[in-house]
Amino acid sequence: MNGFPDSVTITESSSRDGLQSLGAFVPTGDKAGLIDDLATTGLTSFDAVSFVSPKWVPQMADGAEVVQAVSTPGLRLIGLVPNMRGLEDALAAGLTDVAVLAAASDTFSERNINATVDEAMHRIRRIVLDTPENLTFRAYISTATHCPYEGEQDPDWVAHLAETMFEWGVQEIFLGETTGMGTPAHVSRLLDEVLERVPVEFLGVHFHDTYGQGVANTVVALERGIDKMDGSAGGLGGCPYAPGASGNVATEDLVWLLGGLGIAHGVDGPALARIAREFCVDQGLTYNSRAGTAMLAATSS
Ligand code: HMG
Ligand code: MG
Repeated sequence: MNGFPDSVTITESSSRDGLQSLGAFVPTGDKAGLIDDLATTGLTSFDAVSFVSPKWVPQMADGAEVVQAVSTPGLRLIGLVPNMRGLEDALAAGLTDVAVLAAASDTFSERNINATVDEAMHRIRRIVLDTPENLTFRAYISTATHCPYEGEQDPDWVAHLAETMFEWGVQEIFLGETTGMGTPAHVSRLLDEVLERVPVEFLGVHFHDTYGQGVANTVVALERGIDKMDGSAGGLGGCPYAPGASGNVATEDLVWLLGGLGIAHGVDGPALARIAREFCVDQGLTYNSRAGTAMLAATSS
């Protein structure tokens, strides 16, 4: 156990993971506006867009236009790429931060990106080793605790994938808790295995909150010294290939947790809640942060 970090970086996933499963197309200006508005709360790192097939995920068809339309300078905008074509599109859009995709389970990987785990790892190897030095690579390992089709995953296998990515030079390896089924016991076992093979400063966590375990799982990650995590304002989101999975742990819930633990995060929680709730109202979406709802109630009374 490493002990809590002094500060953490939250990457805001609402414009990508938060929106990707929605049927009704969110206009490009609204996506970029969400990033710009959220940036006023202190967030600087965004899981912003993806460069995936518009036939598979129509909502993300405007990744390059969203990047172009963001007006706040100096933000870290990450583009998710499933293959070489996605990487080319991300680079053409001017991004230098890309996230690549693997998973622990074959069935999810095949449904998500039409590639087995082995094929996905080969794609990542090629992308990471064959592209210019000045890129920053994040790799997600989805289904890190459970696959929606194959069930519980072996922590040792996930640790092996993470170690392999680390050896290839991936700078950030994010454990994707895609289904939200993992509990602190499983996350603890997983982190024990992964931390044996990958230094803590290379690791991050991406918890979905489907079963309400996101905050509890985050505490486990913090106890291990992990200082990088994704959240989604208003709890927006899910994965089109993980049926029933709800959004990432709400960024507002993370901010409340971190504040209570005395861990610096740099985000104005009530402002975040106001912006996220307004976005949800405008887009006809359900606002889904308990801490955010409470912060809004407290500031309006
Ligand atoms: P495929 O059908 O096997 O692709 O899809 P293909 O290589 O056979 O090409 C078929 C067509 O797609 C061709 O066009 C390609 O040019 C085009 P055509 O000749 O028919 O006109 N194509 C592309 N177009 C745009 N962007 C691309 C691209 N690649 C090929 N990058 C593919 C394979 C990977 C493209 C597809 O399966 C795909 O787009 N999957 C993405 C699925 C996705 O976005 N899932 C959600 C994100 S992952 C996630 O949410 C998990 C995460 O949050 C972590 C967690 O929670 O665990 C990150
Ligand atoms: Mg996700």
